[in-house]
Amino acid sequence: MRFILAAGLVSCTTRSPYIPEPEPDTAAGADSAPAAPDPEVFAAVSAGGWYTCAIRVSDHGISCWWADGPGRLADFGQTHPPEGAFAAVSAGMWHACAIDLDGGAHCWGQAGGKVAPPDEAFDTISAGMTATCGRTRGGDVRCWADTHGGDLVLDGEAHSVSVGPRATCAARSDGTVDCAGGHVPSASGDLAEVATGAYFACGRAVDGTLSCWGDDRYGQLRHPAGAFSAVTVGVAHACALSEEGALSCWGDGSYGQLDAPSGVFAAVDAGTNHACALDADGGVSCWGSLPDGTVAEGEALSHDAHIQPIWDAHCLGCHAGDAVPKLSLLRPAAHDNITGASWREGLGSVTDPDSSRLVFRMRDDAVAPMPPTHAVPDAQVERLVDWMAAGMAP
Ligand code: HEC
Repeated sequence: MRFILAAGLVSCTTRSPYIPEPEPDTAAGADSAPAAPDPEVFAAVSAGGWYTCAIRVSDHGISCWWADGPGRLADFGQTHPPEGAFAAVSAGMWHACAIDLDGGAHCWGQAGGKVAPPDEAFDTISAGMTATCGRTRGGDVRCWADTHGGDLVLDGEAHSVSVGPRATCAARSDGTVDCAGGHVPSASGDLAEVATGAYFACGRAVDGTLSCWGDDRYGQLRHPAGAFSAVTVGVAHACALSEEGALSCWGDGSYGQLDAPSGVFAAVDAGTNHACALDADGGVSCWGSLPDGTVAEGEALSHDAHIQPIWDAHCLGCHAGDAVPKLSLLRPAAHDNITGASWREGLGSVTDPDSSRLVFRMRDDAVAPMPPTHAVPDAQVERLVDWMAAGMAP
């Protein structure tokens, strides 16, 4: 969820086959999902929670589009960027931010402190889930966050800063890598670049070699060897661009997010469960996807088609797993956990869905709501209730 600005692009490309066709969007109405302009050449791309943003070469404006069908499950306006000319963009989980040509920061999407940047000039920006950080032109880290994201705030000088769903890491010029949030350990190394995921982070050293540290439950630490020009981290997967422009990805591949295309690319950025790269002609290619959870008329509710997408859209950033089993509850194949095969019984209940632990936690009036931003629409909570009442089909 960081940005990479690629320079020196040539004009004229055909429509990238990976940019989705405009889709009729019945659920979101007027707030329908915009598709990438056709044809368009981009100078930078950033993959976010379930959507992608890119800076157009033609006017430096920003286009955003849903990664895989309309964002019915988590639409906070993150695909509606402001007008203007921008030098950098970073798509976070539910919000995105960009830097204008004067260095001013602008954020849009889910409301909260994370979309209220200070009035300073920035040269980089990184939108996470509950927090945003940037590096000022003076070389200092600034972070702005939701109430719940306060533990992700860092300051001080750094040459690279990156916010993930549960951690912020900054690479300092004294060779330390500070990580805030308590879910990714701090590290050391002469890093040119740091990229933060949910429970792990990766760095690229000045000589181009990679290092990753933190949780390895999905093989996130098994980075390739060699010299790289960029590294980027999603929630539980990472991708890097070799000095020759080839892509490689590692870590969690549950959604095809490791299936990077072959070819020569200029930039790459990993989102929650997808990733996108910019080719030498300014075309955007994306891989990895999520089902949009649409319930067809008369279709019986099932976990994999209709419930898991709710976890993917709202819960995965925190519940993607680390050493604490309860934070893995909503990973793919969560059906077994919910129906009681996990370490804790009773997350779901056929006889009394309303008082199940899961539904209770998602209600607006819960003492400790999940996610902490009260962001799950009522219709999705009702879908969960209906699914439990109908027998919790896998
Ligand atoms: C911003 C991070 C974050 C997000 C997003 C999030 N959770 Fe959590 N969740 C936590 C943390 C931290 C805990 C442990 C502390 C607690 O119980 O409040 C937790 C605990 C829980 C528990 C309690 C487990 C137990 O029985 O002890 C449930 C259930 C849960 N979350 C469900 C959800 C669901 C459903 C979503 C999405 C709709 C979600 N969470 C999104 C951070 C998050």
